[in-house]
Amino acid sequence: MKIDTIAVHGGYTPDPTTKAVAVPVYQTTSYAFDNTQHGADLFDLKVAGNIYTRIMNPTTDVLEKRVAEMEGGIAGLALASGMAAITYAVMTIAEAGDNIVTSSALYGGTYNLFAHTFPQYGIEVRFADYRDPGAWEKLIDDKTKAVFCESVGNPLGNVVDFGALARIAHARGVPVIVDNTVPTPYLCRPFEHGADIVVHSLTSILAATAIRSAASLSTPAISPGPSTRRSFAG
Ligand SMILES: Cc1ncc(COP(=O)(O)O)c(C=O)c1O
Repeated sequence: MKIDTIAVHGGYTPDPTTKAVAVPVYQTTSYAFDNTQHGADLFDLKVAGNIYTRIMNPTTDVLEKRVAEMEGGIAGLALASGMAAITYAVMTIAEAGDNIVTSSALYGGTYNLFAHTFPQYGIEVRFADYRDPGAWEKLIDDKTKAVFCESVGNPLGNVVDFGALARIAHARGVPVIVDNTVPTPYLCRPFEHGADIVVHSLTSILAATAIRSAASLSTPAISPGPSTRRSFAG
């Protein structure tokens, strides 16, 4: 499918009974279990299925699949905001004592999260000149858990050579997280240039309506690189 078609229909097969093309909004927190054993198996993750809306919801599932498909990924996770997606992406792989390497040419909320909030949790954030991949390399050490950049910076509009960053990071076994909010997958698909995880503020451009906040995070394919490629959007 072309990306234009994926943007409209990706991740959803029309309901076989009604043939409705629009995605239903499943207003449920909870799901029925066939029996006690089915419930137990769902919670033990022995069988696939819906457990609880905070963890999964059929409407959210379409969004996750759609964004991941547009990015050329295999899976996605939708969150309440872009900041939540970035927080999840980093905190899933880094813990107190670890560090991530990035540049200061970032969206202001992300800069503040990195410069002020993560250090409070013991995660050090090291800032390099976005124009000089060699400067990033010098900051990577055994405790570096991720390299993070925006494909096109907000608000600077700078373009980061994250293909070069991916080569440097992968040589050290470090995954690359790219915030692809500004160009969207319509103009740039970071997985094609070596990214391992893609995050979005869907609020800003991809689903911009000025009335809702959303985010997603996705991964591409089981990569031969250091990690499974993912995309997250919020
Ligand atoms: C590049 C970028 N990343 C992340 C965010 C944060 O997203 P949200 O406002 O959905 O939390 C924004 C918001 O404008 C952004 O422009």
